[in-house]
Amino acid sequence: MDAEEFRRFGHEVIDWIADYLANVRDYRILPKIAPGDLVKKLPASGPEQGEPMEAILRDFRGLILPASTHWNHPRFCGYFSITGSAEGVLAEALAAALNMNGMLWQSSPAGTELEQVTLDWLRQWLGLKPGWFGLILDTASVGALHAMAAAREAADPGARAGQTPLPLTVYASEQAHSSIEKAAVTAGIAQTHVRKIPVDAEFQMIPEELERVIERDAAEGLRPFFVAATAGTTSVASIDPIGPIGEIAARYGLWLHVDAAYGGSAAVAEEFRFVLDGVETAHSLVVSPQKWLFTPMDCSVFYTRRREVLRRAFTLAPEYLRTDEDSRAVNFMDYCLPLGRRFRALKLWFLMRRLGREGVAELIRNHVSWAKWLARQMKEDGRFEIVAPVRLSLVCFRYRGSDEQNRRLFKAVNDSGDVFLSHNVLNGRFVIRCAIGNAKTTKEDVETTWRRIREAAESLPARG
Ligand SMILES: Cc1ncc(COP(=O)(O)O)c(C=O)c1O
Repeated sequence: MDAEEFRRFGHEVIDWIADYLANVRDYRILPKIAPGDLVKKLPASGPEQGEPMEAILRDFRGLILPASTHWNHPRFCGYFSITGSAEGVLAEALAAALNMNGMLWQSSPAGTELEQVTLDWLRQWLGLKPGWFGLILDTASVGALHAMAAAREAADPGARAGQTPLPLTVYASEQAHSSIEKAAVTAGIAQTHVRKIPVDAEFQMIPEELERVIERDAAEGLRPFFVAATAGTTSVASIDPIGPIGEIAARYGLWLHVDAAYGGSAAVAEEFRFVLDGVETAHSLVVSPQKWLFTPMDCSVFYTRRREVLRRAFTLAPEYLRTDEDSRAVNFMDYCLPLGRRFRALKLWFLMRRLGREGVAELIRNHVSWAKWLARQMKEDGRFEIVAPVRLSLVCFRYRGSDEQNRRLFKAVNDSGDVFLSHNVLNGRFVIRCAIGNAKTTKEDVETTWRRIREAAESLPARG
């Protein structure tokens, strides 16, 4: 593609994106399609000859778009809602144009140094003390795997030298994200050595239970080595008591990883700093700007206070990757599994500069206050119950009726196409989740969501 052609299609694409982001409310959130529908519409083999851009863009609009779920819709309230901010989209285009691979300082000085600077800004915004070393990974799940690998390096260095691995055991609450267990299995820890610690009535890990299980395991000759605390669990956004868990971790020599993938961003607003209370006792921490810091996928920040351990776990550089700057520069490949690294810091930097800390804090404050407003409406209505405290921007609720009625209500809301909620099963009961977290969401969107929920409740057949 020559420059003129690029300019022409570039303008067309940017115009399309501008309209899309401005009018995303007009799209159905969930496409009306069935599995396999898109595959059937696409050729079984790639083209022998190149095709014109017009045809490719036509198919993007005619085939790809109708098969897309619109996460950018301000009433996408499922899972944790996210934001493909315009600033982030532009930064992604620039990063793609530079196409730098940030494996080494030399291979991407700008990428390497901007990552260090933005992550130090973010550290300050989160109220973390100096001493945390950060890097950007694609997801929180991969962050958990890095925490696990570093923790194993610290606890069982002999395994790498060929000694019989220690019988390592992992601890996380019943409400922890499945990525902790997945990380353990991927790291070669026996799945039967992953302990799910009970939670209290507010879905927070019970430290006394953690200690009891650690002691039992240690008495049986196992080697407790890793505990994950969650600040903002996926199901209900509960916040584990990090400080007390950290004290136990210190007493028994465990690595404490804090999964604050969603909840961590709230600490940008001073009044929500409590989400990370006790984090100074942790060895690693994940906060994902792709979740609640308005940065497009993918961008998950992994911080550790044990930089040298992480480096020991991941340094394995062949000669052809050695450079003259190695003693003076950070080479991110030495701290993570991937060698090739995208220039993800650029979009975070754009976002942080455009919104400023106050701008981010304001959005977060609004989201939390609207979630609390929605919970209040539900309580006052009387037909709904709030099943977990609303500390952040997630409301977990049930219609006061059978599971079947809740499933019907949930389906009716999502079938409307202009609100999307997700679900879970808690204490054996079907629960509906409404997560507020998109930068474009307004109070009116939350009111519309509440109206849709009430309409769905009214359309339910009588109980029986
Ligand atoms: C608390 C928490 N941790 C980890 C994850 C996994 O995130 P990722 O998709 O970035 O791997 C999620 C996903 O929603 C989450 O809610």
